[in-house]
Amino acid sequence: MKKLWAGRFTQKTSGMVESFTESISFDRKLWKHDIAGSIAHAKMLSKQRIITQKEANSIIRGLRQIAEEIGKGAFAFSPGLEDIHMNIESALTDRIGPPGKKVHTARSRNDQVALDLRLYLKDAMQDIISLLQRLQKTFVELAEKHQDALMPGYTHLQRAQPVLLGHHLLAYVEMFGRDRERFQDCLKRTDICPLGSCALSGTSLPTDRAYTAKLLGFNSISGNSIDAVSDRDFAVEFLACAAIAMMHLSRLAEELILWSTEEFSFIEISDRFTTGSSIMPQKKNPDVAELMRGKTGRVYGNLMALLTLMKGLPLAYNRDMQEDKLPVFDSAETLTACYRVLEEMMRNVKFNINRLSSTAGKGYSTATDIAEYLVRKGLPFREAHEITGRIVLHCISKDVQLTGLSLPELKSFSPKISEDIIHVLDPAESVKARTSFGGTSPSEVKRQIRHFKKVLK
Ligand code: ARG
Repeated sequence: MKKLWAGRFTQKTSGMVESFTESISFDRKLWKHDIAGSIAHAKMLSKQRIITQKEANSIIRGLRQIAEEIGKGAFAFSPGLEDIHMNIESALTDRIGPPGKKVHTARSRNDQVALDLRLYLKDAMQDIISLLQRLQKTFVELAEKHQDALMPGYTHLQRAQPVLLGHHLLAYVEMFGRDRERFQDCLKRTDICPLGSCALSGTSLPTDRAYTAKLLGFNSISGNSIDAVSDRDFAVEFLACAAIAMMHLSRLAEELILWSTEEFSFIEISDRFTTGSSIMPQKKNPDVAELMRGKTGRVYGNLMALLTLMKGLPLAYNRDMQEDKLPVFDSAETLTACYRVLEEMMRNVKFNINRLSSTAGKGYSTATDIAEYLVRKGLPFREAHEITGRIVLHCISKDVQLTGLSLPELKSFSPKISEDIIHVLDPAESVKARTSFGGTSPSEVKRQIRHFKKVLK
């Protein structure tokens, strides 16, 4: 295989070096973007009369033919040609002859690879953003369906206060919304065209960078050719957004795992989204959720890999940067796969409403309501807290719930207590009363659902 850069060499590359330096085994994923970039570049070259219209047409036809071959799986990638850029360029010259040798005019693989990665990430982030939006809609639907269901709310994984299941589900809608905004924001800094920066210093040929950028659908062009070929902060930023997004998925996964245990019995995950055990016939395991939680580690690692890869590199391009693609592809694919499977899985989760609501009031979860009741009766909060603590201790020693205490018993703790306290002990009343903005009251949850239905349209 003749190298496209063979001119100044007298010896053949060692086979060991070929397999050590190749990237075609993974950067072939960029083929569509690479071809799109070359087509736009050829159009620009001919518009600027750097090549003829005829040559450009021939290049474009050749590239389209190669795209078709790759799409059909009929293209033979060669590790001897290192990467996707040289595989395609070499195939082009094989197909169309001399005009193929002109496609790399006023271009370098350095700006080419930066372009391909930006195009890839623009697509990936747009997919991720719309998957996130779909996921938000699914969670809003679930929240609406279960908007009246009570459940125990937790802190420290100890029952804290009753909440609405809808409210808990909407918490994830908020997280997904911020994840979406983060990708949207990263998209702005990714949507900058580096093509035409060439190796590092630009070109003496009369190119029109704005034209290529427009053909490729970019919002703007990079301002400094040295920066354009050496910068990967858009990819680091993507990996950071992906890591944060996976952190949210992992917390959700953890809850799904916990909630589907016999001990919690809050949900049942559909058979279709669980797996069995090869030895224990009774088992039904939440493997999908566990893998979501597990894959989070890899996505965090990808961020650290790229940050570390970049930290010591002098300007401009260094071959180290070829290693940027694996973490980027992996995080994009992992996140996309997680969102797809999660959305389906959530649609098939059965919430055990009886169990959720019957545990909502357990564990003295309305104790804060008693304290707030005493505050309304004029006691300072600290005193109210102290009195309520003593009531709880009394319950523990008698092994009863708060609702198991008689009115005289309650009154013995404070003269401020009268029969209207009965309301306060009921988890449904507790929830109803939490009408502060963003709180768990049915009216607030309804407002949040209305809000999301409007913005997610
Ligand atoms: N395969 C290379 C990469 O992924 C393309 C750029 C190579 N440029 C170079 N001058 N060796 O980074």
